[in-house]
Amino acid sequence: MMNINEINHIGVLGAGLMGHGIAQVFARAGFNVSIFDADAAALAKVKDRVAANFDVFIRLNLAGAQDRENCLANITAAQDMQNFCNGPQLIIEAISENISVKKTVYAEIEKHAPPDTILTSNTSALSITEISEALKFKTRFLGTHFWNPPHIIPCVEIIKGASTDDEIFETVYALMEKAGKVPVRVLKDIPGFLGNRLQHAMMREAISLRENNIASAEDIDKVVKYSFGIRLPFIGPLETADLAGLDLLQNIQQYLFPYLESSAEPSPLLTALVARRATGVKAGEGFYNWTPEKIGDMIQKRDTVLLRIINEIIGDVKSDQR
Ligand SMILES: NC(=O)c1ccc[n+]([C@@H]2O[C@H](COP(=O)([O-])OP(=O)(O)OC[C@H]3O[C@@H](n4cnc5c(N)ncnc54)[C@H](O)[C@@H]3O)[C@@H](O)[C@H]2O)c1
Repeated sequence: MMNINEINHIGVLGAGLMGHGIAQVFARAGFNVSIFDADAAALAKVKDRVAANFDVFIRLNLAGAQDRENCLANITAAQDMQNFCNGPQLIIEAISENISVKKTVYAEIEKHAPPDTILTSNTSALSITEISEALKFKTRFLGTHFWNPPHIIPCVEIIKGASTDDEIFETVYALMEKAGKVPVRVLKDIPGFLGNRLQHAMMREAISLRENNIASAEDIDKVVKYSFGIRLPFIGPLETADLAGLDLLQNIQQYLFPYLESSAEPSPLLTALVARRATGVKAGEGFYNWTPEKIGDMIQKRDTVLLRIINEIIGDVKSDQR
């Protein structure tokens, strides 16, 4: 395994919603971070966005003003792709979710970066193996799926593509731990990896319940937030299953499964909302009505509550990393 202590310089390609936060994760952990974006305006905003992200940490006493300065000092905006690709031992790509754009960019990275630079993609939905087709040196490529906001949500899914080298896979896993994240190994490149499969199984049922007018959107969200959801930071579904007893679980599933939503298409309700451009917060309307104040308030509360929970359970999180 490559000695992870040799990795001190991380490149982040794409300075959007995810890229700037991923840069923050590594810069905060003391790594030297280079970041590049084809859009000069996005690149110019990185330091301001990272600085603003620190507000909630500072307010909750989870960081000081000096931590913000140290983090910002570790981030450098590269001038061009050639300059960007030279130096980092690991490049994390977080550009737009488009397979042909990504493939073009990987071919370009390979022109400029040494063949042993580890390359990872933050893609949420594209196949790691398919992206790797653009590469000559495929064994050094894998998925690192951060969750939004990446500087707050601990988990990173580490995804093994068909050609990923085992040692490189383990090196990236160890590196994420070193950067303070909670990595998980996804041993096979399947659509949705782990987290999105679980999340969308629940969303499919939630939307179906709404569509059939079994409850209001508020009450569907409430039952998740204040019943089984409230224990999820501590107890996962398989631990819950063992606690409940697998014989009981089998009985429940035998009875319940025929009634659960199992459609292979997005629901007609979702399709209708999208057709009339009720696409959620960005349109001011989705399952709920949104005002800019309500959105800002929710995001601020979300980050505050999440950081409090994460801070509270961080001991448990670390003891889970066996
Ligand atoms: N948004 C999320 O919640 C989320 C969560 C997990 C993973 N992801 C994944 O992370 C990646 C980035 O998503 P995002 O939400 O940050 O998108 P974004 O649109 O906010 O940012 C993408 C950035 O990539 C830049 N870019 C596009 N083509 C480029 C190129 N050829 N070279 C350099 N820069 C280029 C764009 O200018 C933009 O600033 C996607 O693959 C997405 O699927 C997103």
